[in-house]
Amino acid sequence: MVKAMIVDAGPRRGWNTEQLLDAAAEGAAAAGAEVERVRLYDEPFLGCRSCFACKAKNSRSIGVCAVRDWLRPVLERAAEADVIIIGSPIYYSQPTGVFRAFMERLCFPWDSYSKDESGTRIRYIPKDKRCGLVWTMNCPKQFAFGGANYDALLGISEREIGRVLGHCESVWSCDTYQFRDYDRYEANMFDEEHKAQHRDEQFPVDLADARAMGERLVLAAAKEVA
Ligand SMILES: Cc1cc2nc3c(=O)[nH]c(=O)nc-3n(C[C@H](O)[C@H](O)[C@H](O)COP(=O)(O)O)c2cc1C
Repeated sequence: MVKAMIVDAGPRRGWNTEQLLDAAAEGAAAAGAEVERVRLYDEPFLGCRSCFACKAKNSRSIGVCAVRDWLRPVLERAAEADVIIIGSPIYYSQPTGVFRAFMERLCFPWDSYSKDESGTRIRYIPKDKRCGLVWTMNCPKQFAFGGANYDALLGISEREIGRVLGHCESVWSCDTYQFRDYDRYEANMFDEEHKAQHRDEQFPVDLADARAMGERLVLAAAKEVA
C-alpha cells in the first residue's frame, strides 16, 4: 500500500493551507494511500545544525538525521513514505521558517557531496518519493508570477526537493482570504469584496487542484510500488 505523509508547515488550523492539505489528503486516500498527517507548528524543532554526522565516513547516521528530538520519528516515517505533500503559507516572499527547517532536516541526510563513477550526485534516500508542495499567499497570481518573482523564489524549494527526493511539483493558491472579518483589522490594502469573490470562485478550483495532485502522486507512486 502506498504511504502518503501530508505535512502542514502553516500555523493556522482550518485556514487556507490546512484546507488545501485536507483536499490533498482526501485525493491521496481516494487513490488508495494510507495517509498520515503531521503539523509542524505543534512542537518546537530546529533546522539542520550542520553537525555532518550524516556525512561522516562509515557513520551510522548516513541517510538519517542524527538529531534526537520530536522531529526524528517523523523523519523516520517520512523515509518509509512514497508520497510527501507539504503545505506552507508564504511569509515575506518565502515559505515559512518551519517549512525551511523541515526541508533541511528531511533532505540533507539523503543528499551528499559525492558523485558516483558516472558523475551522478549520490543520494542516500531509501526509496524515491513523489512530492507535492502547496503554496498559499495573499498576492494575486499575476503579481506572484510577475513582479514578485515567486515562481523563481518558490521554484528553488521545488527544484531542491525534486533533486533529492526524486520528484516534486506544486499547487499555488493566490489572493487568499486572510481574515474572518476584514473590518476588524488595519488592512486597507485589500478589497474585502474582491477577496470574498475570489474565495468563493477561485478557492474551490484550488482545492480541486490540490485534491487532484494528491490523487495523481499516489497513483504514480503505486505504479512504482507494484
Ligand atoms: C508574517 C506574514 C507574512 C506574509 N507575507 C506574505 C508575502 O510576502 N506575500 C504574500 O503573498 N502573502 C503574505 N502573507 C499572507 C499569507 O501568505 C496568506 O494569507 C496565506 O494564505 C495564509 O495561509 P493560512 O490562511 O493557511 O494561514 C503573509 C502573512 C503573514 C502572517
